[in-house]
Amino acid sequence: MTRFRYIPTLVLLVAAIGLNAQENKNQKIDSLLKVMTLEEKFGQINLLAYYSSQKEIIKERIKKGEIGALLKANGAANNRELQKVAVENSRLHIPLMFQEDVIHGYKTIAPVPLAEAASWDMEAIQQSASVAASEASAAGVQLTYAPMVDICRDPRWGRIMEGAGEDPYLGSEVASARVKGFQGDSYTNGTNIMACVKHFAGYGAALSGEDYAILDYSERDLRELYLPPFQAAINAGAGSLMSAYTSYNAVPASANKFLLKTVLRDQMGFKGMVITDWRTTSNLVSMGVCGDDSLAAAMALEAGIDMDMTSGILMKVGPDLIRKGKIDVKEIDRAVRNVLNAKFDMGLFENPYKYFDEEREKKEILSKENKEKALDMARKSMVLLKNDGDLLPLSRNIKTIAIIGPLAKDKKDLMGRWNCKGDEKDVISLFDGIKNVVGPSTKILYAEGCRLNGYKNNGSDSISKAIEIAKQADVIILAVGEQANFTGETAGLAGLHITPEQEQLVRAIHQTGKPIVNVLFNGRPLVLTEIADNSTSLLEAWLPGTMGGDAVADVLFGNYNPSGKLPVTFPANAGQIPNFYAKRKKQSETGYVDASNKPLFPFGFGLSYTHFEYSKIKLSDIKMKPNGFINATITLTNKGKYTGREVVQLYIGDPVCSIIRPIKELKKFSIVELKPGESKIVNFTIGLDDLYFFDKDLKKTYEPGTFKVYIGSNSSETKEISFELSS
Ligand code: BGC
Repeated sequence: MTRFRYIPTLVLLVAAIGLNAQENKNQKIDSLLKVMTLEEKFGQINLLAYYSSQKEIIKERIKKGEIGALLKANGAANNRELQKVAVENSRLHIPLMFQEDVIHGYKTIAPVPLAEAASWDMEAIQQSASVAASEASAAGVQLTYAPMVDICRDPRWGRIMEGAGEDPYLGSEVASARVKGFQGDSYTNGTNIMACVKHFAGYGAALSGEDYAILDYSERDLRELYLPPFQAAINAGAGSLMSAYTSYNAVPASANKFLLKTVLRDQMGFKGMVITDWRTTSNLVSMGVCGDDSLAAAMALEAGIDMDMTSGILMKVGPDLIRKGKIDVKEIDRAVRNVLNAKFDMGLFENPYKYFDEEREKKEILSKENKEKALDMARKSMVLLKNDGDLLPLSRNIKTIAIIGPLAKDKKDLMGRWNCKGDEKDVISLFDGIKNVVGPSTKILYAEGCRLNGYKNNGSDSISKAIEIAKQADVIILAVGEQANFTGETAGLAGLHITPEQEQLVRAIHQTGKPIVNVLFNGRPLVLTEIADNSTSLLEAWLPGTMGGDAVADVLFGNYNPSGKLPVTFPANAGQIPNFYAKRKKQSETGYVDASNKPLFPFGFGLSYTHFEYSKIKLSDIKMKPNGFINATITLTNKGKYTGREVVQLYIGDPVCSIIRPIKELKKFSIVELKPGESKIVNFTIGLDDLYFFDKDLKKTYEPGTFKVYIGSNSSETKEISFELSS
């Protein structure tokens, strides 16, 4: 009975909250906390997965105040119906929050995040996240589990497709752009969504590339490699964060007080809501750090988690743990406060129905503008890896083109993993994209060649058909790569090769002696040594999303001059892994006795149809004071026939230092567009921020002495010069 005593007061309270949503937020949260029962408090931090088959059960639980947020519930009408139950039928009328994996698009699917990072174009990346937010918010979603900012140097890890690659600086830039894109200036306006930056921290260190496998990495790695993109996301205003499946210092992330309190709150200044990953609370039992759910719930809450994703254990055992004095009530109050705070910031108290507008949903989703932006992003993400004899761009008037390969007409895989509500019927295949671009006199021949998903070799019949049509063509466009499910969560790939059938197809087509443009659709660096040898031109098209086919055709036929650069090293050999550019100095050059240690394509690499010439580097001074700056400039000239965009990259090295530093580290980059014959001076300002490092005691510091500046078109082709930093 006591539970319902407060209803009249609460109706007034909530109405008052509605009137003044942004004012005195803390005071209002305090008022709510005062009247919430323990069950209602644990209900607020209970995040459950929605399945339509369980709708009625879920509604009953919402009525009882047992659910604070849902994931996988979407659609304006569906979510309004669920929200109505929370707002009208639960005792405290607290609105629900709807969360979703909007990783690279809601319905209009953009290239996978690794591909987006290959554009190095922060405006385009921000725009792409903003399209995703616009569609998701119109479909009743208020929070996305993105961006994933895990730095990864092991392409066997399937989730490398979901991040920005191997480098903490590029990763930080991308993290910030994506947060700004999802959240806009404010996520209270109903057209943006809150970002949930993930997975805190070090998930990308997965041992041997096996998902969830625990690697004990050092605190130096944590601070130099894994934290910077999180810090960038926090600085950009990320409203929430997800704890990782893995651990730091062998303590699971969701029970790691050092990570979640000392590092995240005290040192990094994060003020938002911490959501666990899927059942990472009950996983504490399966990982063997405690014996039962009660201990797991207490460990996670005390460590600093605010919302429990899908395990339900906090809801189940939490109230009793507080009553028995096993957890301090201030821990649950902190968590509830962070959840309510997020709901306030989303404007849900002001208007719980603001995200459920079917009219806007209809107009927004897959709109012409959104598709154009997805096309723009896809074109900018493609990386030209090889172009012998300038075979590309192709003429639109070629007599006969053979389009061959299991990905030539494929639509589903082009969307990549984590494609949210994407539908293959909306995707433009490579075949259709080429048809849209070539002139009427061009004859197009097609053969599938082999299956995409098989490791068994039974494709020789189709291979012979492919050879037959290849012989009739002037040029062959070969589409091979990875099926989407071979990338993403739990999709580790040990050998880093496309399937043997596809490799056989590539070899067989190469035997025809015809010019071959190899278009690769994949979500990770692969070992492309043989594929590169067997093709004239090689285009890394990644998993390019809804507009993929048009984007590739635009690049192949010169409507867009490729400008992407690899955000991650492509090894020449799987045994080289991890192979990344920012290696620390060693005493002398050594490699392997059976192979080179050079990557096939280094970090930052990507060709253009035009040719850029770099001048020597000029410095404004050869000495810098700690409170000063110096300018490093180069003149970039377009020496080729086409207008092109170049990503000019600046790296810094600290050759003598009290700890062993990487030989060079990316510190800045700039995208420059030049017409044929045009030159431009590119200027970078270097300050102390670019020279800091963590010393042997992990204190952020700088040391006077010589620094090297490298500027170039990728991490291994650079000009260099030195300057002195005085004390
Ligand atoms: C993944 C998260 C994802 C969550 C919800 C987990 O398995 O690790 O990245 O956001 O599921 O779908």
